[in-house]
Amino acid sequence: MDANADSRDMTRQRVFQILEHGRRREPASRAIDWVLIGLIVANVAATVAMTVPDIAARHSAGLQIFDRFCVAVFALEYIARLWTAPDHPMLRGRTASNARLRFAATPLMIIDALALLPLLLEVLFPFHAVVLTRLVRFLKLARYSPALATIGRVIAGERRALLACVVIFVGVLLAAAAAMHAVEGGLQPDRLGDMPKAMWWAAAMLAKIGGSETTPVTTLGSLIAAITVMLGIGCFALPVAIIGRGFYEEIRRRDFVVTFAMVASVPLFARLDAASIAELVTILRARTVPAGTTIIRKGDRGDAMYLIASGAVDVDAPAGKVRLGEGDFFGEMALLSQEPRSATVTATRSADLLVLDADDFRRLLDRLPDIAENVRLVAHKRITSPAPST
Ligand code: CMP
Repeated sequence: MDANADSRDMTRQRVFQILEHGRRREPASRAIDWVLIGLIVANVAATVAMTVPDIAARHSAGLQIFDRFCVAVFALEYIARLWTAPDHPMLRGRTASNARLRFAATPLMIIDALALLPLLLEVLFPFHAVVLTRLVRFLKLARYSPALATIGRVIAGERRALLACVVIFVGVLLAAAAAMHAVEGGLQPDRLGDMPKAMWWAAAMLAKIGGSETTPVTTLGSLIAAITVMLGIGCFALPVAIIGRGFYEEIRRRDFVVTFAMVASVPLFARLDAASIAELVTILRARTVPAGTTIIRKGDRGDAMYLIASGAVDVDAPAGKVRLGEGDFFGEMALLSQEPRSATVTATRSADLLVLDADDFRRLLDRLPDIAENVRLVAHKRITSPAPST
């Protein structure tokens, strides 16, 4: 009985690793990702094709069967994700059913559930238009688009600057509408006679960069319209520039996307609570280095500690070469002792590294004494014993 439960737990953990891939480069999870991406794209294409009468007349049965097949695969995927939820590090410590309930309420799982809904709708309301609800499946691709998550993070990070843009936009809109209403309100009462009408005109001028059907009839009106159009360009360029710069900085900071599961799978962080892991996800930088790259040079000043998400590195320690692999960390000694780097570290294989900057490292150690103790212990062992230690 116990053996059965153990093997079921192990299978569940394995399925979780494949589906949520905390560490990259696993062929099984890559293969499943690509199959699902292929099915989503093909399903959306088939839904679009079904609306063409010619294609629908000839291939309706085939497309229908294909759709049912996709739904079956998506349903299986949904059930598997829900089943493995208790293994998610974010939901550690909860009962299985509680973990599944919480997991079902996460945005990506809600999208997955929505993708299954059209079949139910088609059965309940067999109208032609209902078929188009299948297009919601396109949103499933969000899971596979790390850039989308990055944009979300950028928008959240720049919310104050973006809010300022909204305030500026509304200010310009009100000023332009008031000026136009004052100058031409009497001449064009049906279009500029009251503030709501004038605001509609101003919004059209700001957003469409000209081209409103209301043309000014006075010279002053034309001048106001021209200024409004120019301010409109500025109003739209500002948020684009803010998001663009934030996006560039995020991308430069991260060669790959740091996921919750990836951080939680680092042994050093294994016992952290969900909130601390979530915080680490935002402060760790991600860097991919090709084989042969020197990551740390002996004698340099220490500016960061590194955790190996995948790949391997060689440490040129005084007592001989030491190989470190997935889950290990290095570069902690210089940060702890404030002395120069004690050894040169080179990537033996292409490696995905999580980089913790010196300031963040210090803050982390201050806040989490358990981790500080662990890091100091490993550093001490590395100094005192030449044998590989992590
Ligand atoms: P630091 O001195 O900052 O930079 C070089 C790093 O190599 C060092 O931190 C350790 O993380 C690592 N290192 C040094 N000696 C050993 C060792 N004997 N075993 C494993 N790692 C080591």
